[in-house]
Amino acid sequence: MTSADLKTGIVPATTEALAGELARLLSPAAVVRVREPLAKRTTLRVGGPADVYAEPGGEADLRVMVRFAAERRLPLLVLGRGSNLLVRDGGWRGLVVSLAHPCFCAIELTEEGGRLRCGGGARLKAVANFAKQHSLGGLEFLEGIPGSLGGALRMNAGAMGSSIFDRVISVRFMDLAGVTGESAPGQLGVGYRHCPGLRDRIVLDAVLQGAPAPREEIEERMNQYNRKRWSTQPAAPSAGCMFKNPAGIPAGRLIEELGLKGTRIGGARISLEHGNFIVNEGGATARDVCRLIELIRERARAERGVELETEVEMVGSDE
Ligand code: EPU
Repeated sequence: MTSADLKTGIVPATTEALAGELARLLSPAAVVRVREPLAKRTTLRVGGPADVYAEPGGEADLRVMVRFAAERRLPLLVLGRGSNLLVRDGGWRGLVVSLAHPCFCAIELTEEGGRLRCGGGARLKAVANFAKQHSLGGLEFLEGIPGSLGGALRMNAGAMGSSIFDRVISVRFMDLAGVTGESAPGQLGVGYRHCPGLRDRIVLDAVLQGAPAPREEIEERMNQYNRKRWSTQPAAPSAGCMFKNPAGIPAGRLIEELGLKGTRIGGARISLEHGNFIVNEGGATARDVCRLIELIRERARAERGVELETEVEMVGSDE
């Protein structure tokens, strides 16, 4: 066994055998890989590998995966587009599931007027563009959020003064025992960047409400949002806003007032464009990013008495 293998805590034969066992239970459309690098699957581009990484080819495969993880006591991580995620350098000891297969990414109009049914793996950008093509407004703000629908619902993502749950009619999900259900937003305890009802559930699809509007108007609003984003947010790899906005002051302004913009640790830097973004300037490790997060939290606490809470989800092991 090499030192790299020792770090995973699972001997290679076991990981290979587990992955093989799982693969045999799945449809031919499913994908199963061992020691899959996760950095390339996150927008921040840091972090170690997943012991086992799998893409279900349909709901039956997904059910097999969640039950397999429960029976084997494998920690399960459901990966969206990885845009609000910090994977630590040791990676994920267990199973990572991604709804990347096209069957989870469909977007279609429903029978009721003005509504879309979108798969949990669908990109928000694709949802916004589909709505525009069908002259449905109210979903323009989704265009600039680099995530999947499932991930966005799980944290009630938002931009430009709107949050995704402002537009949700219902969400269909699978729980960690493989049982499916459907809920209205009122049953999910939705709040600012927060949706406890989806914490231990995987979004299969959701119905969103649009509002009929001329296509040019929708297009113009999208362009306006796009311009605002490019002029206030960095283009370098990041996980979006690192912290939730605390009461009283936006986190970005607070970090600017603390004089921390531009601070660098290793390959990570607090963005000069927006204080609430930490960017990877190339070769950053998760440890670099975590040290910057701690530095910001300590200074905010000591100098302003503000307890900053991370918006980005931090997962995995350090070593
Ligand atoms: N500001 C500064 N300095 C900075 C950054 C911001 O003074 O370095 C000031 C701005 O001038 C503005 C205020 O702080 O007066 C708020 O800034 P901004 O309009 O950029 O919005 P935000 O509250 O920082 C929120 C969301 C973003 C979303 C934008 C645009 C949170 C934590 N963030 O940012 O969402 O894109 O509005 O709608 O709610 C994300 O969640 O990952 C994210 C990027």
